[in-house]
Amino acid sequence: MCTGGCAKCLGITLIPLAVLCTLANILLFFPGGKVVENNQNITDEVWYFGGILGSGVLMIFPALVFLGLKNNDCCGCCGNESCGKRFAMFSSIIFAAVGVLGAGYCFVVSAVALNRGPKCDDGKDWLYPFQDGNYLGNHTIWTMCKSPDTIVPWHLTLFALLLVMSGIQAVLCGIQVVNGLFGTICGDCKCCGCCGVSNRCFSLITLCADNSCICT
Ligand SMILES: *[C@@H]1O[C@H](CO)[C@@H](O)[C@H](O)[C@H]1NC(C)=O
Repeated sequence: MCTGGCAKCLGITLIPLAVLCTLANILLFFPGGKVVENNQNITDEVWYFGGILGSGVLMIFPALVFLGLKNNDCCGCCGNESCGKRFAMFSSIIFAAVGVLGAGYCFVVSAVALNRGPKCDDGKDWLYPFQDGNYLGNHTIWTMCKSPDTIVPWHLTLFALLLVMSGIQAVLCGIQVVNGLFGTICGDCKCCGCCGVSNRCFSLITLCADNSCICT
């Protein structure tokens, strides 16, 4: 089993998701595609930065760490040759946990926002005209929002996208928690197996019994 390769695919998938979540969160600041004159007219949950911080910035760290797991040569991580691949896999568990927390935060914020509905102008006041997700299955009450135009589908589409994408991110990072545990226990690939139980490379050339790797 080569768990580093799996981690790399996870890292590659996380990056476009992080970019899309950041974009979705930014678009939510422009309800219906328009600039609102008063910041207080933007739905509260948009200001929780679920997509920008939770599924965006926080996801960069696990994504980069996962990507690097494959490229680390057999006995290095973070440019430190002595720390070993097991340690790299072990530290990836911590980053994966950070990813689960970030994506989980975005997921919860999006679920709350979908349930509560958007803040909009009902003709008299800026308020939240919907409750308990009652607008989700009833198009007729969408007209309670007079402005901004298309605020309801805007809110619904973007927060639903954030919900799905952050859910995928949480699952991918969850997979890396398990993958990292395997990597820590099994020492990833065969490559470092020749260097002893500590998986440290020594400064002499070591050739594995099965010729599968050379550590220098
Ligand atoms: C939608 O909401 C309106 C207003 O509350 C109600 O009269 C109507 O029956 C609802 N329609 C559905 C399909 O639930």
